[in-house]
Amino acid sequence: MQVRGASEQDLNALHQLDAELFPDFTYPYFVLRQFFDVCAKDFLVLDDGSSLCGYVLSATAPDRRKSWVLGLGVTKNLRGQGLGRRLMGEALHSLRDHGVPEVWLSVEPANDTAIALYRSLGFVHQGSEKGYFGPGEDRLLMMLRL
Ligand SMILES: CC(C)(COP(=O)(O)OP(=O)(O)OC[C@H]1O[C@@H](n2cnc3c(N)ncnc32)[C@H](O)[C@@H]1OP(=O)(O)O)[C@@H](O)C(=O)NCCC(=O)NCCS
Repeated sequence: MQVRGASEQDLNALHQLDAELFPDFTYPYFVLRQFFDVCAKDFLVLDDGSSLCGYVLSATAPDRRKSWVLGLGVTKNLRGQGLGRRLMGEALHSLRDHGVPEVWLSVEPANDTAIALYRSLGFVHQGSEKGYFGPGEDRLLMMLRL
């Protein structure tokens, strides 16, 4: 299982994977495409040699003082084997190397697995925002100082 940078040829498979991981919040293909155009170096995929099994995507603000993790996921049948931690670890390592001081993310308050992973990596709860992703879609905000 390899973690590598996403390529343009991955976009169709990434779109399918994103739909499987986030059925209610799938990025439209054109948004994934534009994320890729803007932040390809921060778009990492988990590749088992024949298919994509996970991804992590982050984006850095123009002043480079803050990055946001915009997506993280591992296919269902491969969860609980350290792959999500590995993806996040590589993403954070790269952001640290590029001198980004803070990483932020939002997470659904009921997503105990993701929250446990982020806490264990040192992310700290910064507050909750009602309707962060629209009506009824509250999110916790978490931040890590690199
Ligand atoms: C969140 C997600 C990426 C974690 O990936 P994973 O490969 O299963 O996670 P790992 O095996 O690397 O485990 C990392 C940590 O997550 C937590 N964790 C993993 N499985 C868990 C479970 N079933 N229950 C509670 N915590 C769990 C633990 O803290 C674990 O650390 P540990 O192994 O030291 O105990 C994965 O569950 C996923 O893709 N979920 C659907 C998409 C999603 O919700 N993404 C996050 C959006 S904010």
